[in-house]
Amino acid sequence: MKRTVTSLAKAKQEGRKISMLTCYDYTTACLMEKAGIDCILIGDSLGMTILGYKDTLSVTMEDMIHHTRAVSRGLENTFLIADMPFLSYQTSIYDAVYNAGRLVKEGHAQAVKLEGGAKVCEQIEAITKADIPVCAHIGLTPQSINSFGGFKVQGKNLNQAKQLIEDALAVEKAGAFMVVLECVPAKLASIVSKKLHIPTIGIGAGAGCDGQVLVYQDMLNMFDGLKPKFVKHFANIGEEMKDAFVKYDEEVKAGVYPSEEHTFAIDEEILKEIEE
Ligand code: KIV
Ligand code: NA
Repeated sequence: MKRTVTSLAKAKQEGRKISMLTCYDYTTACLMEKAGIDCILIGDSLGMTILGYKDTLSVTMEDMIHHTRAVSRGLENTFLIADMPFLSYQTSIYDAVYNAGRLVKEGHAQAVKLEGGAKVCEQIEAITKADIPVCAHIGLTPQSINSFGGFKVQGKNLNQAKQLIEDALAVEKAGAFMVVLECVPAKLASIVSKKLHIPTIGIGAGAGCDGQVLVYQDMLNMFDGLKPKFVKHFANIGEEMKDAFVKYDEEVKAGVYPSEEHTFAIDEEILKEIEE
């Protein structure tokens, strides 16, 4: 069944959870489509997972369009949301509508996501008026890393908790069709999810959200090093890939690969002539 803003809203009304994963390329998109994932997010996390930056701030519109377009070619029923990168919507309402439009027109996204609550409601309203569905993103918003002073759980103290609820209500009022809650206490995320009519998608926000999202390299255990508390490894693909690369390296160097079955034959008559 084709996912739409309407079917996603209906999922919340009927108490069916929504699955979302990040994706950045065609091959992976085809696999997620086959798996029946509801929504795919071209996250600006691609700055880290694909491009190797230390945060998301350097990601450009061109980066986002390039990867969104690649993913869109692999999808049929899955709903495609593209992140608006840093500085593509903060600067003005015009920039916000124009850049959201580019993600749809050039990237073939069906919706866009931007970070911030009350402070970006004008942008949410304007983009929505241009008939582009907007997913808001509140709680820990990685584009604000420099003003937060690090990646920390948001909404733990009373002021922050009240602010999160206000932001959630504000983005819904501004027309957002969905909201991502990142790194907030589970019980706060549950309260927000009950207060809102639009679906909440949690990452590090507990099971009370209407859906979940993870960065796919995180859930496939493709990174060495730090594992955030909310990440669950559903497979060990990093290890599998590395083992395969090691085997290939060994077989090439030992002359084991390619063997007969991986090679093309030539007619014996022709061979005789060219060998002379
Ligand atoms: O960029 C991203 O991957 C995201 C998700 C983690 C929500 O914004
Ligand atoms: Na993002």
